[in-house]
Amino acid sequence: MSMTRRGFLAKSLVSAGAAGVATTAARAVTPLNAVLGLSTGVLGANDKIRLGLIGCGGIAHADLGCFLKHKEVECPIICDVDDSRIADLTGVIEKARGTKPEGVKDFRRIIDRKDIDAVLVCTPDHWHALPTIHACQAGKDVYCEKPLATSIGEGAAMLAAARKYDRVVQMGTQWRSGPHYAEAVDYVHSGKLGKIRQIRCWAYLHWAGDAGNTPDAPVPDGVDYDMWLGPAPKRPFNEARFHFKFRWFWDYAGGLMTDWGVHLLNIAMWALKYPTPKMVNCTGGKYKLVDDLSETPDTQVAMYDFGDYSLIWEHHSRAGAGLEGREHGIAIWGDKGKLILDAHGWEVGPIQAEKGEVEKHEGKNDGRPAHVGNFIDCMRSRERCVEDFEVGHRISTIAHLGNLALRSGRSIQWDAKNGRVTDNDDANKLLTAPYRAPWKLPV
Ligand SMILES: NC(=O)c1ccc[n+]([C@@H]2O[C@H](COP(=O)([O-])OP(=O)(O)OC[C@H]3O[C@@H](n4cnc5c(N)ncnc54)[C@H](O)[C@@H]3O)[C@@H](O)[C@H]2O)c1
Repeated sequence: MSMTRRGFLAKSLVSAGAAGVATTAARAVTPLNAVLGLSTGVLGANDKIRLGLIGCGGIAHADLGCFLKHKEVECPIICDVDDSRIADLTGVIEKARGTKPEGVKDFRRIIDRKDIDAVLVCTPDHWHALPTIHACQAGKDVYCEKPLATSIGEGAAMLAAARKYDRVVQMGTQWRSGPHYAEAVDYVHSGKLGKIRQIRCWAYLHWAGDAGNTPDAPVPDGVDYDMWLGPAPKRPFNEARFHFKFRWFWDYAGGLMTDWGVHLLNIAMWALKYPTPKMVNCTGGKYKLVDDLSETPDTQVAMYDFGDYSLIWEHHSRAGAGLEGREHGIAIWGDKGKLILDAHGWEVGPIQAEKGEVEKHEGKNDGRPAHVGNFIDCMRSRERCVEDFEVGHRISTIAHLGNLALRSGRSIQWDAKNGRVTDNDDANKLLTAPYRAPWKLPV
């Protein structure tokens, strides 16, 4: 088979990456790459960053908006399986940059483009792993939305690809970059709470969790539905499983346990310096949304045993009020005090309310610009991002373990080193999502 010089050079670059020397190889060929218009993977302070966007739905608007605040970022190509969503974001990019991006329905057209430096993955969870892994293989950096994937096995494969191809990767848990979360975490790290004994994370969301009860229907015009399903099982089209609502179906996501779990558990685990649970128990079900097509529990409680302390996750869909007067939050009890934290601020006080003052600190839920900024900075410095996949995989795993215990109907003992459940084979069977042909998870 004949190969052009440009193709040969590009292939050499990728092979070098596969051998774990992507950065060195890229540096060595920079001038020639520049002449050929190929991405080098090594960016100077003022170099343009060419971003390819995969998945043009709700969160893509917020994420892309933050990327475009950086004047050096261009977005010349976007991908969605739904024409109407491509049209929406084309308008946004045209307005921000004055040029129209190329719109494609197959993400592999983005992976193929040698001039793309980074990929922003904003697809449903079941479509996080493949675009991310293929982007890493092609020498692109990746900002991937949370949770890392639909399963622990996919997350492990994504982390392995990021390391093998030496890519800068960030999971889109932007709370990690919010200043007031950092203040609260510093407080926990100061030791002032004393010995930690219990953590509670909750999401009582009145606006989330239901899918509706629509009948199966013809695929809407302009939608490549088979590509939307991708590695997930084939099913008739139903609005209830589609845009945004995919969250409440096991084929595509993990319900509120993973959707909001990763945000809240992330902050709790950061405060506790990333411990590993030894045992996980979980209970829950569809107690409120009984006539709804959603599959994931509207009510769920997961209990984690970390050896020295325990953590409780709980959520209610379509529920108001919450706990401690907050619809969502994290509470950390030590033997000297209690800290409570949510998107709007944090407070710390005595264990018993009447025995001291509560100190309140306001905060804003605006970590996304800094989170995107951290990714861009790391693309230039080649350092690890604050939510590098090592952290993202660890946190997503904790959320997935709750669902594994629930779905297998039994508690699980977790062997983090080997990524296996040691005492529950039903849970082990759920470690990796099966893929529908022709899609395959590269492991
Ligand atoms: N960080 C946050 O706070 C936050 C908030 C919301 C959503 N998210 C995450 O972002 C992801 C997307 O959520 P959303 O609410 O934007 O969903 P959405 O349904 O609004 O958007 C997903 C888009 O991906 C497209 N898509 C599906 N398969 C595709 C494919 N193979 N190729 C290209 N495009 C494809 C869909 O057509 C849709 O337009 C989820 O993983 C979710 O957990 C994160």
